[in-house]
Amino acid sequence: MADKKARLTVEGLDGAIELPVYSGTEGPDVIDVRPLTGKGLFTYDPGFVSTAACESKITYIDGDQGILLHGGYPIEQLADKSDYLEVCYLLLNGELPTEEQKTVFVNIIKNHTMVHEQMSHFFNGFRRDAHPMAIMVACVGALSAFYHDSLDINDAHHREVCAFRLIAKMPTLAAMSYKYSIGQPFMYPRNDLGYAENFLHMMFGTPCEEYKPNPVLAKAMDRIFVLHADHEQNASTSTVRLAGSSGANPFACISAGIAALWGPAHGGANEAVLTMLEEIGDESNIAEYVERAKDPEDPFRLMGFGHRVYRNFDPRAKVMKATCDQVLKELGVENEPLLKIAKRLEQIALEDPYFVERKLYPNVDFYSGIILKAIGIPTSMFTVIFALSRTIGWISHWSEFHSSPNRIGRPRQLYTGPKMRDYP
Ligand code: SDX
Repeated sequence: MADKKARLTVEGLDGAIELPVYSGTEGPDVIDVRPLTGKGLFTYDPGFVSTAACESKITYIDGDQGILLHGGYPIEQLADKSDYLEVCYLLLNGELPTEEQKTVFVNIIKNHTMVHEQMSHFFNGFRRDAHPMAIMVACVGALSAFYHDSLDINDAHHREVCAFRLIAKMPTLAAMSYKYSIGQPFMYPRNDLGYAENFLHMMFGTPCEEYKPNPVLAKAMDRIFVLHADHEQNASTSTVRLAGSSGANPFACISAGIAALWGPAHGGANEAVLTMLEEIGDESNIAEYVERAKDPEDPFRLMGFGHRVYRNFDPRAKVMKATCDQVLKELGVENEPLLKIAKRLEQIALEDPYFVERKLYPNVDFYSGIILKAIGIPTSMFTVIFALSRTIGWISHWSEFHSSPNRIGRPRQLYTGPKMRDYP
């Protein structure tokens, strides 16, 4: 039921058009523009800067205040007190699990971590230097071939099993894409390890000796998973929702999300930040790159800076920066040159009027790459880690979409092409 009304008058149209206005529990009110179609009008919002594409209860972001809530819980508290599988449960169910619910959930995930043995054959078609994101788009999409018939998207239990499979198998596939690129054998998951420990085991373990995960690195890995888990209607999540609206197989929808995340303006930024820091190479070169980032004629952007929603610090970047300091100290590389360049770059950018006026702050991708590099993860795997973590966000939104009556997403356009004309 609408809380308020908006009245729109348009030159050339008689009378005002009444539009319902709805209020959420947090955030801006929304104007329901659907009555416009009956008046022969569309809204126009390239890039969806001002468009609420759906109603959702999963995550809330306040860009001005730098607030990020999952199920109402601030990301800073979840990063400090929770862990990734507990956050997965929260995103899927809207409530934190009881101790018993968490134990059951963790055991279910543990027992879905292997992929069908046939999956390993897909890798052989790729060159060893294939980008692992290309492999992930292919292999996650290929999961739909294994679970094509056992899924009724309108059945909540089927949707839940699909989520379990994806949460459990993404680390296995991600680690396989890495092992393939370095010519080492795939490592099977181990049920005696925690989620992040198991991922590090599959990434860095070998059949030659038992891998003992460093608990500080495993905790940092789990925290990185938590910080990337979900982020409202970002480009890749919106892609998954739109693909899902046609009734497509959920594994194919997640593959579409991975493809959308790959772009350097989105999840590919973490890889681009490391490339940028390595290209800057020394603090003496920072000023030149900052000037390039400010030059409208130069396509160079300061990667890891700016955000469509945050006009303040990305709360995830603050936690990531603190984690970065912890990990580098633990590894005895607190003088990592790239970290020094990053911190100097952040300081300069936050004082420069260009960035201050545009409210450009470091985002989640600015420090994550430095931690991942310190853990030993190659730059090409950074966005794969992001995709692994964001899978729970994608599948939670996909499931939320299918949990209530829905329609296929089909935006319209402002047509400026040729008028009708006859074929000569
Ligand atoms: C993620 O949406 C999400 O929630 C995404 C994400 C998630 O968790 O899902 O948070 C993850 O994608 C984080 C963002 C990672 N991307 C980067 O770090 C790439 C660098 N950032 C920019 O490409 C940009 O800031 C975007 C893409 C993040 C946001 O783009 P917008 O909202 O379209 O903003 P814009 O390009 O219109 O920028 C506004 C102004 C422009 O200048 P003017 O035209 O006003 O003169 O700010 C400038 C831009 O040129 N600007 C930058 C800049 N980012 C914006 N200038 C230099 N360096 C930058 N990084």
